[in-house]
Amino acid sequence: EQKQLVFDASVLKYQSNIPKQFIWPDHEKPCANAPELQVPLIDLGGFLSGDPVAAMEASKLVGEACQQHGFFLVINHRVDATLLADAHNYMDNFFELSLTEKQRAQRKLGEHCGYASSFTGRFSSKLPWKETLSFRYSAEKNSSKMVEDFIVNKMGDELRHFGRVYQDYCEAMSKLSLGIMELLAISLGVGRANFREFFEENDSIMRLNYYPPCQKPDLTLGTGPHCDPTSLTILHQDQVGGLQVFVDNKWHSISPNLEAFVVNIGDTFMALSNGRYKSCLHRAVVNSHSPRKSLAFFLCPKGDKVITPPTELVDAYSPRIYPDFTWPMLLEFTQKYYRADVNTLEVFS
Ligand code: SIN
Ligand code: FE2
Repeated sequence: EQKQLVFDASVLKYQSNIPKQFIWPDHEKPCANAPELQVPLIDLGGFLSGDPVAAMEASKLVGEACQQHGFFLVINHRVDATLLADAHNYMDNFFELSLTEKQRAQRKLGEHCGYASSFTGRFSSKLPWKETLSFRYSAEKNSSKMVEDFIVNKMGDELRHFGRVYQDYCEAMSKLSLGIMELLAISLGVGRANFREFFEENDSIMRLNYYPPCQKPDLTLGTGPHCDPTSLTILHQDQVGGLQVFVDNKWHSISPNLEAFVVNIGDTFMALSNGRYKSCLHRAVVNSHSPRKSLAFFLCPKGDKVITPPTELVDAYSPRIYPDFTWPMLLEFTQKYYRADVNTLEVFS
């Protein structure tokens, strides 16, 4: 028999009797005081101005981080500060709506877009202590209003401006990710334009994460441990903190830095680099005092692109480790896998 449970932040955030579906097994419970992960803080200023020396320096730092754990921070990224502030502030416009209103954008099982509360009417365990709103973004001609249209379509015209903010934000993320692709190409010693061209017409995903406070944050997780199956993730976390990465057999935290984006390699890029660069396990913890917001842009190749490493990265000493695949093939696999797993809501996690 299916138990009906509703996870609405406004209700659960005051509750100290945590429903058992949210309680993680002992070996997965969050640890207090995770040490800080050593990640390079990469200044993109020189590279984005076209300075070749700065590009070499930045790509060297990127390469070192990607061989170790795949996480690094970028500053002077040229993403408009007002847009970034709006992208955080406008999240409240949506997540503060009533559950019924948010459910107009409800994400259906097996879909990637829409609103997901930890779940409504689903009986599962290891549930994430969060709500999310996800949408597709295509960097292609004729899709300049895709995000805006999706929001208006689901939520009505009152949220048009909200939709516009995330449309603009996705455009900025897509642009930034192509710059990072150039640095990745330089660092791997392949043609500079190689990955940039591969991802120019990307078919990406944007996710707004809203983590309500939790009265028992040592029992729960905001986002369970996972590797991103996507190519590259660009995350902006607010000042609250909660992102952790599993390196050298322990959890480390990445402290908030409002000036910086946290960038990490996903499984698809790990395959493109023929395993040279790592896609690393990470998660998000919650706390008892503040809600937390993060914005995640997942760069994904177009569905018909074959993921195959450039010839420079394959030789007798470094044979192919992964077969050719397309992004939809990997996604289908991930979904099947996660449907079998208990954490069914986390399509990408
Ligand atoms: C975060 O919110 O800090 C990370 C979320 C994720 O990796 O999915
Ligand atoms: Fe992730």
